[in-house]
Amino acid sequence: MSPTDSSMWSCVCALVLAFPAHSTAVSGVLSSPANVQLTSTNMNLVLRWDPPAGAPRDLLYTTELKSSVLEFKPGCVNTSALECDLTSLVVSIYGKYTGRVKAQRGAQSSEWVISEDFVLDKQTSIGPPNVSLHSNRANLEVSIKDPVFMKSTMRQIFTSATYNITYWKKEQKKEIKHINGLQQNRVVLHSLDPWTEYCVQVQIVASTAQKPSMPSRVVCASTTGEKEPPWVGAVVAFFVLAGVVTLVVLVVCYWKSFSHFLCPKYAIPDHFKKSLLAPPKSHMYLAMQTSQPVEEFSDQIIVVMCSRSEEDGGPQQTAG
Ligand SMILES: *[C@@H]1O[C@H](CO)[C@@H](O)[C@H](O)[C@H]1NC(C)=O
Ligand SMILES: *[C@@H]1O[C@H](CO)[C@@H](O)[C@H](O)[C@H]1NC(C)=O
Ligand SMILES: *[C@@H]1O[C@H](CO)[C@@H](O)[C@H](O)[C@H]1NC(C)=O
Repeated sequence: MSPTDSSMWSCVCALVLAFPAHSTAVSGVLSSPANVQLTSTNMNLVLRWDPPAGAPRDLLYTTELKSSVLEFKPGCVNTSALECDLTSLVVSIYGKYTGRVKAQRGAQSSEWVISEDFVLDKQTSIGPPNVSLHSNRANLEVSIKDPVFMKSTMRQIFTSATYNITYWKKEQKKEIKHINGLQQNRVVLHSLDPWTEYCVQVQIVASTAQKPSMPSRVVCASTTGEKEPPWVGAVVAFFVLAGVVTLVVLVVCYWKSFSHFLCPKYAIPDHFKKSLLAPPKSHMYLAMQTSQPVEEFSDQIIVVMCSRSEEDGGPQQTAG
């Protein structure tokens, strides 16, 4: 080897060391995704991973899932996302599952990376319950709905599930009260302060679950009281008084207009008066005045008037 040859070789080595990504490209193999794991909430099954270190942005991924008794089946193909929902490939809720993923770019692809085994019914997380509040005087009724599971139901998977309820006055977050181990999905919080806003949060706890459920969102509602609150009377009195005062002020200010309206002082124009007093000129009227009175026909009527007069004692007869 001549000195120039050796210097050329060291140059090639430096290039290869400086661009490791290019070296994998040359060999046709991509680096593999990292942190590949199966996760589950409410009995779904999702494979997640991180992109290979220093990977180009345009990588695509292909995933597969197998159960303990079956071979790998294809999940997502050529997805650019860093997760893939494999719930549709779940054959049994009691199975043990393994996922795998490889990166692809054009004709190149990485090695498969296999996740750890995942026991679906033991390792799935419980999502938050849905809580609603209904206020009834000084009580609050809490209704809890279990999260909907993708496979089976929460009660079938976690038969021992109970609810832990925490509640507090909205204004006093430090005084938190607990009801733990509740079996029913409905509970009435008794003897609360009237006209006070309370907040409630619920968690599902199951002995066979790896951890308690995600806490529900916080819901708040106000209690009412047996009677109307003291301020209602004051408000009503205020509005009545205000109404009366307004009316009086209006009447005083517009008194003139009011009296004009009630007793108008309009004079009738002179020419109108004259024409009203002048003798009528209508032909019809004149004809009616000069003509003979119309003969009126009527049947003879006999009116019998009975009276207990002491003078003649009998009925009086009058012909009309
Ligand atoms: C996925 O991508 C590869 C490489 O680009 C391609 O050969 C293959 O046909 C694609 N598959 C689908 C289902 O699109
Ligand atoms: C919670 O329940 C209420 C009615 O009971 C419903 O309208 C709402 O959509 C539910 N929320 C969720 C997140 O399921
Ligand atoms: C639920 O209540 C039980 C019984 O009191 C308690 O042991 C547990 O720590 C509570 N869990 C949560 C998440 O509050």
